[in-house]
Amino acid sequence: MSPSSENRVCRTFGIRLPLLMGAISPRPPLAAAVCRAGGLGCIEGISSPDKIRQQIRELRALTDAPFTVNFPLAFGDRSLVEGRVKVAIDEKVPAVLTSAGSPKVYTRMFQDAGIKVAHVVAGISHAEKAAEAGVDVLVAEPTESGGYRGANEIAMMVLVPAIARALPGVPLVAAGSVADRAGLVAVMALGAEGVQLGTRLMVTQEGRAFFPEYVEKMVLAADDTSTMSADGPTRPRVSKPEFAEKIVGDARKRAQMGQVAALIHDVPTIAEVVRELFDGGAAHARDVSAALERLRAGLAD
Ligand SMILES: Cc1cc2nc3c(=O)[nH]c(=O)nc-3n(C[C@H](O)[C@H](O)[C@H](O)COP(=O)(O)O)c2cc1C
Repeated sequence: MSPSSENRVCRTFGIRLPLLMGAISPRPPLAAAVCRAGGLGCIEGISSPDKIRQQIRELRALTDAPFTVNFPLAFGDRSLVEGRVKVAIDEKVPAVLTSAGSPKVYTRMFQDAGIKVAHVVAGISHAEKAAEAGVDVLVAEPTESGGYRGANEIAMMVLVPAIARALPGVPLVAAGSVADRAGLVAVMALGAEGVQLGTRLMVTQEGRAFFPEYVEKMVLAADDTSTMSADGPTRPRVSKPEFAEKIVGDARKRAQMGQVAALIHDVPTIAEVVRELFDGGAAHARDVSAALERLRAGLAD
């Protein structure tokens, strides 16, 4: 038995570590770097069908490892979304990461083609609907995250345990707020079996080739007050204009990033991020466990 085979996220996707790359970059080389580090790389499925096909092939030339294509299902009219989805099916991609829209229509279509489906949810009722649609993995996106957070602003601390308890049969990945060992241990303690990283992966040595310099500058300078909800149906979390003005001298520059930017102060390689999470996380969990054991001594008999 491989070390990761008891983890349902690893088993579902055939990966070594339950680490999903968020849909942060359209470029295959960054996805390939995540795959090489043992996680599940992701490429975008929001451009034209031809472009998506080209990127799938580019990624396959870089790695044999499994990956996802991200389909925000509510973006574009029905025929365009269907054209994009058809490419994934024709190309027999291993998995998709669907978000921003109902998983009802496409989940079965993907699964009939042998494609695993992870679906992003921002609330418990969303999660229940996605489970009813039969998705393979749920990705919980709380309000702190850099992604599509839904209108109800539900915090990680509530979203992940509530979904884990309501739907124990579906493997759960926590998206957002994780950049280091403590973050990984925290989301696993809440009931997640894996993690999806966005902001942390943008600010890496490999990320430098794919994101503008001002994005890295803003993430490194961010504190707990630097982000806000953008308008629009998916309400991504973005840098505040006054913060952009202060850091890069232009209030119109906008970086999509999670609150976790406040914890990011370095530019490691992706392999170093993975080591910090899974090696550092195991050590951190032992320390937390030992501290709790000592506290038990304070219980009355
Ligand atoms: C620059 C950027 C672009 C993103 N674009 C998408 C997207 O197109 N589709 C999607 O489902 N999520 C998108 N996300 C959300 C990520 O997939 C991921 O869930 C999120 O960033 C996790 O939160 P974190 O940034 O706190 O780690 C994006 C996030 C960032 C930072």
